[in-house]
Amino acid sequence: MRTRALFLTIAWVFTGGSPSFFHVFAQAPTPTVVDSPTVKVLTGLMAPEFQEEMNHMVQALGVTCGTCHVRGNFASDDNPKKLTARRMLEMTKAINQQFFPDHKPKPGESVLGRVTCYTCHQGEATPKLPPGH
Ligand code: HEC
Ligand code: HEC
Repeated sequence: MRTRALFLTIAWVFTGGSPSFFHVFAQAPTPTVVDSPTVKVLTGLMAPEFQEEMNHMVQALGVTCGTCHVRGNFASDDNPKKLTARRMLEMTKAINQQFFPDHKPKPGESVLGRVTCYTCHQGEATPKLPPGH
């Protein structure tokens, strides 16, 4: 906090007290909605939220971005794992809509709802089979 105040003071002096400096400073870069023909389930999310969902999936399945994505082209649907993942997104969304409609995700939680990829996957690419299999 003190460092920030000091920075502001220095910046104020440095810019000769120009009010435009504070105008620029107060304006956080406007996040944009991720809008793409190959975003079919996670629609209407701001870029940081969308990125968070991708991170949640990575952690829930214990995989990397490259497991589902063609190298160098996130929009491409040529990786079959991505298509499976999209079906899973649809399924997870449907479960939440039908059975947990009142759950409001807290900041940092998946926007999908109470049931997430982690609920079933628990850090594994393929969920465990029941005991005895
Ligand atoms: C388990 C599979 C999976 C993993 C792992 C994954 N993604 Fe995705 N990604 C998807 C799916 C599925 C979509 C499309 C979602 C939809 O249709 O709503 C997507 C969409 C995207 C898009 C939007 C592309 C477009 O159409 O413009 C970006 C960007 C992206 N992912 C980045 C990442 C990054 C970065 C990582 C790693 C941190 C990552 N993804 C990890 C499955 C995955
Ligand atoms: C209700 C439980 C459940 C949820 C929730 C769930 N999955 Fe799955 N998922 C499964 C099961 C079961 C399989 C194995 C299917 C099979 O054996 O054919 C699987 C398989 C997969 C596979 C293929 C793995 C492989 O072995 O090739 C991917 C990719 C995947 N899930 C991604 C996701 C993502 C991403 C999410 C969250 C959006 C998610 N899953 C949510 C149950 C779930």
